[in-house]
Amino acid sequence: MTSNTTYLPATDGLPGEDTAPQSGVDEASATASPRVLGFSTRQVHAADTPDLTHGARINPVYLSAGFLFEDFDEAEQRFSGEGGGYVYSRINNPTNIAVEKLLADLEGGAGATLVASGQAASTVAVLGIVKAGDHVLSAPSIYEGTRALFRHNFARLGIEVEFVEHPNDPQDWLRRVRPNTRLFFGEVIPNPKNDLIDLAAIADAAHEARVPFVVDSTLATPYLIRPIEHGVDVVIHSTSKFLAGHGNAIGGVVIDAGRFDWAAEAERYPHLAAPAAGQEGPSLIEKFGKLAGFAYTRGAIASRFGPSLSPFNAFLLQQGIETLSLRIERHVASALAIARWLELQPEVSSVDYSGLPSHPQHELALRYFPRGQGSVFAFTLRGGREAARTVIDAVEIFSRMTHVGDVRSLILHPPTTTHSKLSAAERERAGIFDGLVRLSVGIEDADDLIADLDRAFRILRGEDLPSLLAGTAAAYTPAEGL
Ligand SMILES: Cc1ncc(COP(=O)(O)O)c(C=O)c1O
Repeated sequence: MTSNTTYLPATDGLPGEDTAPQSGVDEASATASPRVLGFSTRQVHAADTPDLTHGARINPVYLSAGFLFEDFDEAEQRFSGEGGGYVYSRINNPTNIAVEKLLADLEGGAGATLVASGQAASTVAVLGIVKAGDHVLSAPSIYEGTRALFRHNFARLGIEVEFVEHPNDPQDWLRRVRPNTRLFFGEVIPNPKNDLIDLAAIADAAHEARVPFVVDSTLATPYLIRPIEHGVDVVIHSTSKFLAGHGNAIGGVVIDAGRFDWAAEAERYPHLAAPAAGQEGPSLIEKFGKLAGFAYTRGAIASRFGPSLSPFNAFLLQQGIETLSLRIERHVASALAIARWLELQPEVSSVDYSGLPSHPQHELALRYFPRGQGSVFAFTLRGGREAARTVIDAVEIFSRMTHVGDVRSLILHPPTTTHSKLSAAERERAGIFDGLVRLSVGIEDADDLIADLDRAFRILRGEDLPSLLAGTAAAYTPAEGL
């Protein structure tokens, strides 16, 4: 499958605040082939981009800030937003457009906007919907960076984010809804406790409250779940994690289902019921209908606040996505094996992996994640902080790092790092105890990872052990005489 028509990049339309839906808009349905292609086929081919100049097979990296206009009239046409073509890479770039199309396809969304990081994705997604004076309801268990963004930065902008107490009780969401509530937010696989939320139930509650439901699906990826199929309106990812996969490129994406009925709620979202700033003519809702939110998010928030993704990072992201299903299959199989092993260790008081029957949300895990439950989770050592220190310092294959979703296995002590800014009471409430250790299980051999942890646990028991890697340097030496 080379330059097929099904996946031609959407380069029609133009940049600017009222032209947003052009990028990543799913045109596949319009030219549907009789066969529904599987995920692994689509992760390789959904961004197939014909390079008409040289026939390059790989999506070229267009590292160009701007794009030439043939003449005076073409410049005017490009700025008018009609007729296609590129203007400036902060707004649109051919490399990025192809990857946006790929991500929209894999998530089953109507359009995608790449941004410079996962943090930029949550910022852009929320600011595309709410304004000063609005109220947002969020699940309590979310990435700490997002929580800080909500509690501090958005508070300074006059946006109040309230955290529900019982995220799996739709009534707890609904009873907190105020006249100015404009958005529900949650995370698909929360880290480090895997305290899953019932996506469909909360989506229903959001729609009863007449607001969109936005979720961060970073730790799940579209291979494990497509939240849009469960009623979610906007999906964001830190693409820095499993999607890029190799720990080499920070990035983020906002994917819109194109389903929220903005026209029915025009009074509550006045920025969409008005023409784009500085312009006359139809409102975004009149022009884009259910894609009005996407149009504003892309054209007025992402491109003006300006956290654009470098085309080089988009290229690295695409390289990563091409092997997503293969990597995730290995990630989840190894994570389950390691979680099971950890549960058998006497030093471990609990393992927060939703794939284990002992996890409080195991039923939700089986229902929403039939392909596996991710590979980022925590376990708690009875020996507290000192035991965590010993284990973390002893491992040799796991990398001590604050990052997740990498091909490499990673280990971290959240109480003294990612969650250190919380008060002791807040940590206690979130189940972040002193002995809690977070793992991001990579794609190395599971047996080697368990051997690494086993050695660390034996050191914790007082054994004096040689390095697991003793002698492996020789194995890595290139064969002589080649
Ligand atoms: C679930 C989740 N969302 C968002 C982010 C932020 O992503 P980024 O580091 O790409 O800004 C992270 C980062 O760890 C994350 O784990």
